[in-house]
Amino acid sequence: MGTILVTGSLGQIGTELVPLLVKKFGPSRVIASDVKPPDSDVFHDIEYITMDVTDREMVASTMKDRSITDVFHMAGILSALGERNPELAFMVNSVGTFNVLNSAVKAGVNRVMIPSTIGVFGKDTPRDNVPVVTVTRPATMYGVTKVNAELLASYFRNKFGLDVRGVRYPGIVSYKTPPSAGTTDYAVDMYYHAVAGKSYECYLKEDAALPMMYMPDALDSLMKLYSADGEKLRYTIEYNISAFSFDPATLASAIRRVIPEFRVTYRPDYRQSIAETWPRSLDSTDAKIDWGFSPAYDIDAMTEDMIENLKEMHVRNQPGL
Ligand code: SER
Repeated sequence: MGTILVTGSLGQIGTELVPLLVKKFGPSRVIASDVKPPDSDVFHDIEYITMDVTDREMVASTMKDRSITDVFHMAGILSALGERNPELAFMVNSVGTFNVLNSAVKAGVNRVMIPSTIGVFGKDTPRDNVPVVTVTRPATMYGVTKVNAELLASYFRNKFGLDVRGVRYPGIVSYKTPPSAGTTDYAVDMYYHAVAGKSYECYLKEDAALPMMYMPDALDSLMKLYSADGEKLRYTIEYNISAFSFDPATLASAIRRVIPEFRVTYRPDYRQSIAETWPRSLDSTDAKIDWGFSPAYDIDAMTEDMIENLKEMHVRNQPGL
């Protein structure tokens, strides 16, 4: 293995993936990139490139000039922001993914990791225990672009032999980046409010159950799939993975087991309509069989860890709460 390029390094997953890759492979083997420059206190020990994945020339020259061998393509616009700005979602998620795959083939890259999402599902998909192969006709632009990414990944794998791998992530709960652009981000926001001693107004209904997982399991899964035996992989980036499912009321109860005074009110908005088109639970069996998916955290272990870490980060001082 030579040099790894990470796109979307400042996003929810990228922020935590880059340090993990640096720890695993060493600082000289990892190049971080994002569309904007980083804050001065992150990624100071590695090369950082300001790169827009929609810029075909820049993506191509970066991969070629720096002899990139592996790409973790984490740049993406999530569902809620994608509905507010569908053109941006299309450009970043569809055009950006095409640019990454096309440049990877031309530059002789070995392996490309691309996350997909529960957003590929839609109203016609069964709601419970959804298998990998099912109806994928999403209602959001985010979903449309991610179905497109799944098809592009398979196309580049079949046509050019490019080793492309990925999972359909459920909602990911994490504390390092503030919640922003996703429908499932209410869960992160709920923890931020609870730790700040505030009540929380939830934009989903209390019974809007969705598949979810904690960030350490999301990263561990990605790395397991990255180093899995390619011969055993039956799918490209369509592996369903989920650690558990919960709705906002269940998460609020879990938080109250640690912070008893925490209160939640409900005021559903356009994000509730997005959640209603997504499954309540996923069947992760194929990921378990093919590459050993095995999440470690349940909702209570995740809750304890989130609250402990947010307390350490002094969430009370965060703006906007
Ligand atoms: N977390 C994503 C979102 O809510 C779903 O994959 O947009």
